[in-house]
Amino acid sequence: MSELILGQTLAFTADPFVESHEAATRHERRGAVLVEDGHIRDVGSADALRAAHPQATVTDHGDALILPGFIDAHAHYPQTAMIASWGKRLIDWLNDYTFPEEMRFADPAYAEEIANRYLDLTLAHGTTTVASFCTIHPCSTDALFAAAEARGQRLIAGKTCMDRNAPEGLRDTPQSAYDDSKALIEAWHGRGRLGYAITPRFSPTSSRDQLSALGALWAEHPDCAMQTHLSEQTDEVAWVRELFPEARDYLDTYEAAGLLGPGALFGHAIHLDPRERARLRDSGAALVHCPTSNTFIGSGLMPLASLRADGQRIGLATDTGGGSSFSMLRTMAAAYEIGQLSGTALHPAQLLWLATEGSARALRLEDRIGRLSKGGEADLVVLDLASTPAIAQRAARAEDIWEAVFPTIMMGDDRAIAEVRVAGRKI
Ligand code: GUN
Ligand code: ZN
Repeated sequence: MSELILGQTLAFTADPFVESHEAATRHERRGAVLVEDGHIRDVGSADALRAAHPQATVTDHGDALILPGFIDAHAHYPQTAMIASWGKRLIDWLNDYTFPEEMRFADPAYAEEIANRYLDLTLAHGTTTVASFCTIHPCSTDALFAAAEARGQRLIAGKTCMDRNAPEGLRDTPQSAYDDSKALIEAWHGRGRLGYAITPRFSPTSSRDQLSALGALWAEHPDCAMQTHLSEQTDEVAWVRELFPEARDYLDTYEAAGLLGPGALFGHAIHLDPRERARLRDSGAALVHCPTSNTFIGSGLMPLASLRADGQRIGLATDTGGGSSFSMLRTMAAAYEIGQLSGTALHPAQLLWLATEGSARALRLEDRIGRLSKGGEADLVVLDLASTPAIAQRAARAEDIWEAVFPTIMMGDDRAIAEVRVAGRKI
């Protein structure tokens, strides 16, 4: 059965950080997406697609904007219930709020409850794929994969590994981290739409032996992702220097263990040296910008435009619950605000690209998701561009699609999500 979904459509034909927004996008005022068997079979004008596919059922969203579903390239689903915890910076925030909450995931029933709650919340905000950390408990990873599989979602996740500087009950060992991660890869990686990310939390909580064991595991499974944190706060960078006096810099603690290369995802990456910047770009690794987290925990301003101008691969993410939102709209707004403080006004085309194709490229999934193009998987979000009176009165004055969508980027929330599709299926 085929279905035509009608509305405004916006598709990227090039990277809007390389080409102008006019050259990089195709906007249809009356557009259509043809969906069949969970895939996008065609994208074009409503008139042309209706004529070509008279047998298709039609769902008409009027003036609403059809986009690829949002992709959150770095999140911690176990931090769902402690999001918006007050008053701490990174290391104290981890010790006082995060680790006690993550302890609770030793209980598979709690993990299942939060995994389902998290996916329901993110879908309601238009996010169809996330790359999430779990906790050190393998059952926390099983719970998220099972919840995503039940919804038909594409998802990347991994068991968080920590063997030091974490409380009793939240530590594994180099061997158990390797063994448990390997068993989870065998159980879940490549099963349907699921993919595994080897997940050392960050260098302060992993010994050299643990980082090396995970580097060896990644070499055995190079099509897995590898996700971790890098240079988020200056105190953390100084701590890494004490813990690894032999390392050239923070990135070197991963590089020396075989944890740098295509498929690596480094969250935050704010305080980078020139050597780190060059190695990150040349290695094919991706950085993940977490703007609401970087302001909420007080981490600093990532120079996104300058990194992208160097050719660095970068995705966009909430970093829930260090980040203060489940919404990629709110995350785009924060990226815009940080851009302003860093001297570059990111264009709405650039913000939307980061939340879709940019994150897909970071996850090495751009041939499947994040693009409104033929052959891709039909994960879609439909945005109501007049979802509140405040947004509607501003959008009413818009003279082009960018002015029409920017108020929703800056002021929108889950009320702006008119519809979400996962592999073509309405949620
Ligand atoms: N660094 C190490 N662990 C974490 C985490 O859970 N959240 C954030 N924001 N940074 C981290
Ligand atoms: Zn994080």
